Amino acid sequence: MKKEIFKPNRGFAKDARIKNMCEYQALQDAATEDYEGFWGGYAKEKIDWVTPFTNVLDESNFPFVKWFEGGKLNVSTQCIDRHLDTRKNKAAIIFEGDRGDKQIITYLDLYYNVNRFANLLKNEFDVKKGDRVVIYMPMIPEAAYAMLACARIGAIHSIVFGGFSSEALKDRIEDAEAKVVITADGAYRKDKPYMLKPVVDEALSGKTPVKKVLVVERNGEDVTWVAGRDYSYNELIKHQRVTCEPEVMDSEDPLFLLYTSGSTGQPKGVQHNSAGYILWAQMTMEWVFDVKENDTYWCTADIGWITGHTYIVYGPLAMGATTVMFEGVITHPDAGRPWRMVEEHRINQFYTAPTAIRVLHKMGEHEPAKYDLSSLKVLGTVGEPIDPPAWKWYYEKVGGSRCAIVDTYWQTETGGHIVSPLPGATPIKPGCATFPLPGIIAEVLDPQSGKKVEVGESGYLCITRPWPSMIRGVWGDEKRYKKSYFEDVKKEGKPVYFTGDGAHYDEDGYITITGRTDDVINVSGHRMGTAEVEAAIKKHSNVAEVAVVGKPHEIKGEGIFAYIVLKSDCGIADEIEEVKAINKVIQREIGNIALCDDVVFVSGLPKTRSGKIMRRILRSIAKGQEITQDISTLEDPSIVATIVTAVRSCKL
Ligand code: WTA
Repeated sequence: MKKEIFKPNRGFAKDARIKNMCEYQALQDAATEDYEGFWGGYAKEKIDWVTPFTNVLDESNFPFVKWFEGGKLNVSTQCIDRHLDTRKNKAAIIFEGDRGDKQIITYLDLYYNVNRFANLLKNEFDVKKGDRVVIYMPMIPEAAYAMLACARIGAIHSIVFGGFSSEALKDRIEDAEAKVVITADGAYRKDKPYMLKPVVDEALSGKTPVKKVLVVERNGEDVTWVAGRDYSYNELIKHQRVTCEPEVMDSEDPLFLLYTSGSTGQPKGVQHNSAGYILWAQMTMEWVFDVKENDTYWCTADIGWITGHTYIVYGPLAMGATTVMFEGVITHPDAGRPWRMVEEHRINQFYTAPTAIRVLHKMGEHEPAKYDLSSLKVLGTVGEPIDPPAWKWYYEKVGGSRCAIVDTYWQTETGGHIVSPLPGATPIKPGCATFPLPGIIAEVLDPQSGKKVEVGESGYLCITRPWPSMIRGVWGDEKRYKKSYFEDVKKEGKPVYFTGDGAHYDEDGYITITGRTDDVINVSGHRMGTAEVEAAIKKHSNVAEVAVVGKPHEIKGEGIFAYIVLKSDCGIADEIEEVKAINKVIQREIGNIALCDDVVFVSGLPKTRSGKIMRRILRSIAKGQEITQDISTLEDPSIVATIVTAVRSCKL
């Protein structure tokens, strides 16, 4: 069936940075004809270099690539200092707290706050270039100061999402060998205080590489202070000088690590470096959101995810924009909250996840009509495929059928957008990420032949040339870096970056993303490795075996479905209590984001004779589909019928 197509708003397109598909094509052609010239030109124009680079791209040691070698810069000066001449009194960050409290932080304020923070880390905590600093923070401006302060002194930050448990935090601290943790006592959610510091305390119990903990006092609740380790930010910051010389960094010096889930084992520390990352963060802000000087832009992500890194902090600030940071919950006190904020702050670009759109649609279908949303120009979505009903509501009721929807496809590893509409140029189709951005050579390939797939055929979405904001490594694990991304697909005999996502082209050449091809599930736009959830569940002493799969979920996109084999001698009396106990283990090991939507106790799992669990079968059963796969290769084919019966009769 042919999808509906929506042309860009003519009035908007007139002033857009990329005004039509001819301009898009010209940029894409320029990149194809002279790849290094294309990127080198933008890098010269956009980055405030301390020393210019001498070489654009070195891919001789692919997949270990180097961009803009010889160049020296500092990402915090790119985001702050260079704006002071023209924008010192412009709002850099507009903060809205959970309870409606507001703060406007100008570029000059940001400069002072970041410098003070940088001095604190350097002088009081002895943080040096290359040291790792874990940030476990709520959505408050100090989180952004912390990131930029690290960038200023050359420390590598690793943000851990505030919803992760102490065990998950501990693993990430240890893997990165972090010396310092920056946290807060807690923050507010739905009008009530919640706590973070106790989670940090638990993560640091026992042997730890962490020497110092900095605590921002946000909610003033009582916390335990460990003498000689824990310090109050609010106290120490008062004594810091307001200037701090930025560390001169090489283009390829690491900027941050961000742990993300893979299909196997522990989360991996995705490493991004300085120049290439900040260049693409800035360019995509300009092209995809087309933010203008007087605009106010709001991305609802959490800074604990890559979207928060690139599109709340680094991208908007690098281009000198005004970025809104929101501590609260978008459905609190009611599902009109975001629209009230759009009206009050006169938001021009609004960027959120399909899960949020589905929740807002379901809980407050008519809420947008109550507010003046005429300031909106561009609406964005990210993190998971968006279904056409949610897309349509967003387009018509929020965007008044006049705003472009940019369905931005990208990943932690890509640093910034990869496949996305351009709001002034691309005719859009619901649920379709459309075309690779200029300079990005992304193709849907057949994994066997390495050739581009034909229209309508499924294939693997690959990026066939290195791009500036590409992942530079998995922290401490070169082998895993190669294996995770560069071993599945070859084009013309050469390895290429494989995203892990399936995709296809339609008759107009549009790319539609169909979802992960590996054992990664996408719950409310959060990436979750099935292996990680399984490892957590296995820590429960009654569990003998477990297999976790994704199952379509009306709101979350995908939910977590667990098949559990209990130990024969564990003597379970109450299955409901057992599920509660299992969820408790998940809460402890990972956090609430990994709680199971369905748990079914089964007598065995479908395994091949070599012991491999056939997840495809389990996925089909979870979806309630008929089993059409060949099950004759299973060690015990009768187990399939037993599992189907268990699922059908499960009341949990
Ligand atoms: C999925 C989030 C469909 C995809 C920025 C990818 C999407 C994973 C889209 C990355 C989209 C992201 N349409 N699927 N517009 N955007 N994804 O690393 O499966 O948290 O591989 O980065 O989200 O998730 P991550």
